[in-house]
Amino acid sequence: MAKPKIIIDCDPGHDDLVAILFAAKHLDLLGVTTVHGNNTLANTTRNGLIALELGKIDVPLAMGAVEPLVQPSVGIASGHGKSGLDGHEFADPRLKPISQHAVDFIIETARQHQGELIIAMIGPQTNLALAIKREPRMRQWIKEITIMGGSTTTGNFSPAAEFNIAADIEAASVVFESGIPLRMVGYNITRQTGFDSADIARLRQSGSSACQAIADLMQFYLTRQGEMYGLTLAPMHDVCAIIPYVYPDLIQFLHTSIRVELTGTYTRGMTVCDVRHPRGSAETSLRNRTEPNGFVAVSARSRDLIDRVIETLEHY
Ligand code: BDR
Ligand code: CA
Repeated sequence: MAKPKIIIDCDPGHDDLVAILFAAKHLDLLGVTTVHGNNTLANTTRNGLIALELGKIDVPLAMGAVEPLVQPSVGIASGHGKSGLDGHEFADPRLKPISQHAVDFIIETARQHQGELIIAMIGPQTNLALAIKREPRMRQWIKEITIMGGSTTTGNFSPAAEFNIAADIEAASVVFESGIPLRMVGYNITRQTGFDSADIARLRQSGSSACQAIADLMQFYLTRQGEMYGLTLAPMHDVCAIIPYVYPDLIQFLHTSIRVELTGTYTRGMTVCDVRHPRGSAETSLRNRTEPNGFVAVSARSRDLIDRVIETLEHY
């Protein structure tokens, strides 16, 4: 069977790098697009090129939006350090981005692969929102959007909002309201799905220089997550949005309504997910329902998932 075709739109970022490496081994990765988010666009682009070089992945990388659509920038995510990819010293990448803008690259790739293309959104959603506004036929062309972002429970940017949504809330609303089939794996799943010290030791033992570099990065990320959130895992947020296309049984989803809160004194940027009924809001007579617009992740076999990711990284 042909491998699913995918573009990764990202803001690398430790976990973005792992998602790129994982997708390149299992899927038909057509390109990587970068966006502001974990760090400046210049740094997320540099880090994306580093990921491609580290994995010897031969796909185009296109640079996208420098800042959010409407709101001011929320600033860089300190969890990834000053460069956005702290923990290992990399030489400046020799690869360069293509000259085409990410928004044009996404539209053109969707046009060429109508009905087949999955877009993985693992950073703020500015590029895809712009693409949908610029080319409304994207709504028919894209097969599915898979999102790492949001949460059915707590956020990390605020008690209500997860970082990728919080970093461009209006863009996220455009994407969630686009009518394109959606899959959301949120912080409720990803904060408990990560590498522990033993996983990092296993990567270090695997011998290759790429695995040594990944282990250095993950050690930095683990330490920082412990300091910031008291976590004993380095959460592999972003790869969780890729997993369903490789190992469909590892994450369980509910088809329901997922809405982005655009106002709210304490809740702006929250993803309001109707998980009041285990089979989805469409099946019940609950009050105040809105139409289902996507699949939201409600549980995961986190340990198995991480084992599959480590096995894949060991091939680098
Ligand atoms: C998300 O925010 C970023 O820091 C991570 O790369 C991930 O995409 C988790 O909230
Ligand atoms: Ca990310």
